[in-house]
Amino acid sequence: MIKTSISILDCDFNNLEYEINRVNNSNSDLIHIDIMDGHYVPNLTIGPEVIKDIRKCTKIPFDVHLMITPVNPLLEDFAKSGSDIITFHPEAEDNPKGTIEIIKSLGCKVGISLNPSTEINVLDKIIEDIDLILVMTVVPGFGGQSFMHDQLEKIENIRKLIDATGKDIELEVDGGINFETSQLAINAGADVLVAGTSTFQGGQDNYANNISKLRSRS
Ligand code: DX5
Ligand code: ZN
Repeated sequence: MIKTSISILDCDFNNLEYEINRVNNSNSDLIHIDIMDGHYVPNLTIGPEVIKDIRKCTKIPFDVHLMITPVNPLLEDFAKSGSDIITFHPEAEDNPKGTIEIIKSLGCKVGISLNPSTEINVLDKIIEDIDLILVMTVVPGFGGQSFMHDQLEKIENIRKLIDATGKDIELEVDGGINFETSQLAINAGADVLVAGTSTFQGGQDNYANNISKLRSRS
C-alpha cells in the first residue's frame, strides 16, 4: 500500500486551520512539514511553535523534514512540538549517528534525506538504525519544481539496499511528484510519496481526489 505525505509548503498559510481540515478529510497517511533555515537551503519556513499549533488541528502523524544546519540544538523543540518522524540531511551534522540516537531518545522515528547530489554510500553505516529514507527528486528549497528523472536509479538501488536489510524501512520520495511521476517513483520502489503542488491543484474540493489519484498504482 502506497502512502502519501502531504507537504503543506504550498498551502494557504492565511487559512491554515481550514487547509489542515481539508487534509484531514483527504485520508492522507502523513503530513509533511518542510523546515528551512535560510542557511542550509536558501529559503525560510516555520519552526516548532507553528508545528505545535498545527498539532491542535489534526491527528495525522507529522513527517518533519529538516533542511537546517546544525540539527541537534533544535531536536528537542521539534520532538516536543508533536513531530512523529524527524528526517535530517546527514551532511548537516558532523556525526549523523549521534543525531539519529538523539532523535530516537526523544521518542520519534528517524529519517535520513539524500539530496540529488548525495551518494547512497552515506547510508552504509546507518541504514540499520533508521526508519525512513527520503530521496529528494528536486534540489531542496522550494515547492513546485520539476521531478529529476535521473534520481530514479538511486531510488531503485536504495530499494534493493532496504530489502537486503530485511527491516521495515520506508522509502519516501520528495519533489515534483504529480500524477505521472508518482507512477515512476512507485515503480522504482517508493512506499511514501510527498506531494505539495499536486495536492493543492484545482482548489480545496479536490484534495481528497488528488491524493487518491497519487496513491493508486496504474
Ligand atoms: C522541497 C521540499 C518538498 C516540497 C515538495 O525542498 O522538501 O517537500 O515541498 O513540493 P512539490 O510537491 O511542489 O515539489
Ligand atoms: Zn520535503
